[in-house]
Amino acid sequence: MRTPLTDMLGIEHPVMLAGMGGVSYSALVAAVSEAGGFGCLGASTMPHDQMVEEMRAVRRITDRPFGVDLLTAMPGDMTPRVQALIDEGASVFVAGLGVPTEVVRMCHENGVLVVSMCGKVSHAIRAVDAGCDLVVAQGTEAGGHTGQVATLPLVPQMVDAVGTRVPVVAAGGIFDGRGLAAALCLGAVGVWVGTRFIATPEARAVPGYKERLIATGEDGTVVTRAYTGKTLRAVRNSYTDQFERHPENLQPFPAQVLQATSDGAFHLGGDESTPDIDIERECYPAGQGTGAIKDLIPAGDLVRRFVEEAESALARVRGAIRL
Ligand SMILES: Cc1cc2nc3c(=O)[nH]c(=O)nc-3n(C[C@H](O)[C@H](O)[C@H](O)COP(=O)(O)O)c2cc1C
Repeated sequence: MRTPLTDMLGIEHPVMLAGMGGVSYSALVAAVSEAGGFGCLGASTMPHDQMVEEMRAVRRITDRPFGVDLLTAMPGDMTPRVQALIDEGASVFVAGLGVPTEVVRMCHENGVLVVSMCGKVSHAIRAVDAGCDLVVAQGTEAGGHTGQVATLPLVPQMVDAVGTRVPVVAAGGIFDGRGLAAALCLGAVGVWVGTRFIATPEARAVPGYKERLIATGEDGTVVTRAYTGKTLRAVRNSYTDQFERHPENLQPFPAQVLQATSDGAFHLGGDESTPDIDIERECYPAGQGTGAIKDLIPAGDLVRRFVEEAESALARVRGAIRL
């Protein structure tokens, strides 16, 4: 399935793996890229050396394009991190939580594209004015840090605002090929998918996470500040309920991350061997599409399934409409 996104990134299918902190590590990234999608490392939770090692691990498995996602809002110097992704052969830098103005030029001088995660039209305009090459319109349905505008109204409004200058990719609540088809109809050039890829054998996850996604319905998530101090959609539990009742106990970002960590409720970045996970309090970021997850599916199969389902959804629509 060819779109301006596949041409721009040098990939086969317009399906991007979201750079999810704590989840999108080398095994998952390489599986998506190898299947013809675009794998993106979620490096926001990785120390610098681990990020470098993970990029090398991707390269050991595949020579196909991949990207790296970092949170612009995290305190610390972004420049050496971006230099490292350039040095290790990533072709895309994705900036979550803010426009990475200070590194756009550096990326472009080294042939790296810059992508900005945007929850509002005004964010996208700022990102494009700063030189970003592509924007992801992420609706509130999304897992992880998220805004207030839903994907359906957000994507076409962002396409109208910046679509003549840069391509727009749709995100938030997209879990199968029907979502990909819908995104293309809204004017997007592809999809950026998070939650559905957590329920794969290749995804990194702390104990209980994948099982919890399978067990959670479409109304089982909540947007909470309990884990980071910023609005983040995760599986609702007793820890999120506690802060819903007492928001006065919340601290600003990133102090609340330390609070949740010392409360034993935040282990993102850990893996299956992480001890002492209380599944009633743990941070399991997830989008509203989690209700559709019934089982684990290998990531490469998921990429192919997205495209096959989108093609048949579009064919069905064509067959159903008589013009
Ligand atoms: C576990 C998890 C971690 C995430 N971490 C990041 C991150 O570090 N940087 C970022 O830009 N987005 C992050 N996100 C948001 C995703 O990039 C993506 O926009 C979102 O998952 C899309 O919605 P969906 O989950 O409904 O597919 C995260 C999402 C999840 C579920």
